Amino acid sequence: MAELDKTQREVGVPGDWTYASAPESRDIVHIEDRYGYFVGGKWLEPSETYETIAPRDEEPLAAIGQATAEDVGRAVAAAREAYADGWSSLPGSERAKYLFRIARLLQERSREFAVLESLNGGKPIKESRDVDIPLAAAHFFYYAGWADKLEYAFPNRRPRPVGVAGQIIPWNFPLLMLAWKVAPALACGNTVVLKPAETTPLTALLFCDVLRQAELPPGVVNIVTGDGRTGAAIVESEDVDKIAFTGSTEVGKEIQRRLAGSGKRLTLELGGKAANIVFDDAALDQAVEGIVNGIYFNQGHVCCAGSRLFVQESIYEPLVAKLERRLTTLRVGDPLDKNTDVGAINSAAQLEKIQELVASGKEEGAEIFQPPCVLPEKGYWFAPTVFTNVAQSYRIAQEEIFGPVLSVLTFRTPEEALEKANNTPYGLSAGVWTEKGSRILWMAQRLRAGVVWANTYNRFDPGSPFGGYKESGFGREGGRHGLEPYLRFDE
Ligand code: NAI
Ligand code: MG
Repeated sequence: MAELDKTQREVGVPGDWTYASAPESRDIVHIEDRYGYFVGGKWLEPSETYETIAPRDEEPLAAIGQATAEDVGRAVAAAREAYADGWSSLPGSERAKYLFRIARLLQERSREFAVLESLNGGKPIKESRDVDIPLAAAHFFYYAGWADKLEYAFPNRRPRPVGVAGQIIPWNFPLLMLAWKVAPALACGNTVVLKPAETTPLTALLFCDVLRQAELPPGVVNIVTGDGRTGAAIVESEDVDKIAFTGSTEVGKEIQRRLAGSGKRLTLELGGKAANIVFDDAALDQAVEGIVNGIYFNQGHVCCAGSRLFVQESIYEPLVAKLERRLTTLRVGDPLDKNTDVGAINSAAQLEKIQELVASGKEEGAEIFQPPCVLPEKGYWFAPTVFTNVAQSYRIAQEEIFGPVLSVLTFRTPEEALEKANNTPYGLSAGVWTEKGSRILWMAQRLRAGVVWANTYNRFDPGSPFGGYKESGFGREGGRHGLEPYLRFDE
């Protein structure tokens, strides 16, 4: 034994297999001290500002404008002018050129965007680098391709743009949600006023520089920042023709009430409480990877997160054992570290919501598992969490937690799995793990969810429509379906 120890020392075999840190440099990003609003191709000075921070350590990053109804009015007027002044009548092939340019520029500047996204939002750099930014560019490429083919997409229906689109987006995928909204709107000939979420405005503001480089005509895309008051001002603006909203069900419902009878178009992409269903014939190790990806990806700040895990009773014990073992290998920490799997929680408010729901889970009688991990002292952090022994009636099985928290439930038959999975006010997504193709089809037909993944989870593609049933909202984004909300077909 002593001899073996000696050899190990000589050849330098590490005794400790933890990863060394591999931080991505933030030098590539330049952040201004203060940002205004991007309106009509120019920067407008804000009268009031708030601070945006890095959730990993609460470092102040920049002063951000809190746009008033008057500021929003200017942005809408700029969008209207650009709409009437050429954008809406530009040939589709010309609009496509701008979208292709934007896509290329996002690719060229992808590292910069990835670092900024992780810094401002808290998500691991490997996700912003490999998922958010490439998918955002892919969306612009995809919709660039449709811009001159709208008549083929909707034959004999005379597709025309709607007008000025007001777009309000959340903080979980800031640049990607911008791309989901801006790309189809522009491809169809609309102009845009977009508001990023208050905690994550920086990539949307950097995007304005991409628009400048792409020489997009002024006013076609306008970006205003601020909290819910600014969002409400966009919704209430007289001269907006369409509202696209992604965020909480609560605000979605309020917007729908406000717009009732106004004749304005509306699409809502709201929350979810997706079922991820594992049958006893599934490949368990792959299923475990899918479960982990389903709920710990982006700290669980994902509307389609697989937050309710349904396991067939006969495999419950081995599956939970594998899952808990896998959790102990997740690396929680600095979002800018390339080895990080789970980053920072986006905001103090979101952390509080997660803590409150987790406390309710313990109180109601669920059993909690968290792997041992040291959380940084500053910033907003929450350890990956699994709850077992969960009853359908518990809050953690019903409410959207929007954090790295999984609730495990069980079932015996496919019928029971289906009934439990559909027993939710939401209907955005679901996952099915089984070897049987016939069972996948049987389940997919009956699950009331906009997206059903089979033997995978959280896969996105610009060509595939995404959206919900019931309280998860209505309307689709992505694919040919994603064009429809931005077109009218009347004479
Ligand atoms: P939120 O719905 O308040 O915020 C989303 C966006 O709407 C932000 O840009 C916000 O400024 C804007 N907004 C807020 N109030 C508005 C109003 N009255 N009129 C117009 N716009 C308004 O969501 P929040 O408070 O950040 O998160 C609360 C919960 O909502 C989360 O814990 C999560 O459960 C859910 N959520 C779901 C998202 C999804 O992707 N479906 C995204 C973000 C949050
Ligand atoms: Mg809110």
